[in-house]
Amino acid sequence: MSYPISNSAANGLVDSFGRKHTNLRLSVTDRCNIRCFYCMPAENVVFRPRAELLTFEEIVRFVRVAAQLGINKLRLTGGEPLVRNDLHLLVRQLVGVPGIDDVALTTNGILLADQAKDLHAAGLHRLNISLDSLTEETFQRISRRPGLQKVLDGIFAAKHTGFQKIRLNAIAIRGLTENEIVPLAEFAREHDLELRFIEFMPLDADGNWTDEEVLTGQQIRQTLEAEFCSLEPIERSDASQPAVDFRFADGVGRIGFINPVSQPFCDDCNRIRLTAEGQIRNCLFSTTEWDAREVMRRGGNDSKLKLLLHDCVAAKKQAHGIGEADFEKPARAMYQIGG
Ligand code: 5AD
Ligand code: SF4
Repeated sequence: MSYPISNSAANGLVDSFGRKHTNLRLSVTDRCNIRCFYCMPAENVVFRPRAELLTFEEIVRFVRVAAQLGINKLRLTGGEPLVRNDLHLLVRQLVGVPGIDDVALTTNGILLADQAKDLHAAGLHRLNISLDSLTEETFQRISRRPGLQKVLDGIFAAKHTGFQKIRLNAIAIRGLTENEIVPLAEFAREHDLELRFIEFMPLDADGNWTDEEVLTGQQIRQTLEAEFCSLEPIERSDASQPAVDFRFADGVGRIGFINPVSQPFCDDCNRIRLTAEGQIRNCLFSTTEWDAREVMRRGGNDSKLKLLLHDCVAAKKQAHGIGEADFEKPARAMYQIGG
């Protein structure tokens, strides 16, 4: 290794508001096998040609360099990461990068039953599975494709394979998912899975988001308390985690809320992102990107990549500004960024 691993502020990815960045979200593809309306267009999606995507070698190189600047946590995203061939081989390499101590994956679960074993064997630490509905009809209204049973199979396959930390993510949309709240919570409690509700953000490809469709964490909490019992706050172990977590007062299960719209958590953000084609972003809502692929494919050395990472982090804005007059929706939709 030519560089020491450093977590010092001098070398680390600290932005102009003092936020230290230790968390990297890696999109490995923009492709997906379903078409959730909050993320993708319904039809005629134009995916990036494969040659534009970073290779596994390029991703691993980027991560090695980022780890030298203090990145220690990774999350693989998409599109749907499991449509990228042999993803477990990438996981195995990432787990071994010096300085990386946590590698997680966010998946829609459709291909998980087939891959859970390989991913577990490769050393994947944590798994988030999206589950917005427990009825096939609502699943299809959201995802515009069939697949609920496959997702459920994926969840149980992951449990049986031995994954300890499986979390379900449910997006909350007013007028659509109110009736899912209680069944999802029941399902999570019954199967000892953690469930998090996420507020709908303006990252849908069709640009139809309105704040009226945001079902807030506070409203969901009221529904759950009326149905089950009170929710007791759980002390945060990590200030930078976006979720606010609770335990059910009856002792069965826990639940979390990710409220980016009603309670922005930008002040504690420690995340940067790399898109599938190698663009570094300092926020989901960035309107600027830093081209790591260009540096790597033109033979740039690791110092060049470090400079790029520093530039990207230095330019990070204080907050996303959703709801403010000058809020600018990013040109990319969720599937082109990685959640
Ligand atoms: N708003 C909030 N969350 C979203 N996701 C995708 N699009 C959006 C959006 N517009 C989340 C999904 C999924 C993860 C991949 O990203 O809930 O769990
Ligand atoms: Fe696919 Fe995930 Fe986007 Fe849904 S949210 S369309 S599963 S990438």
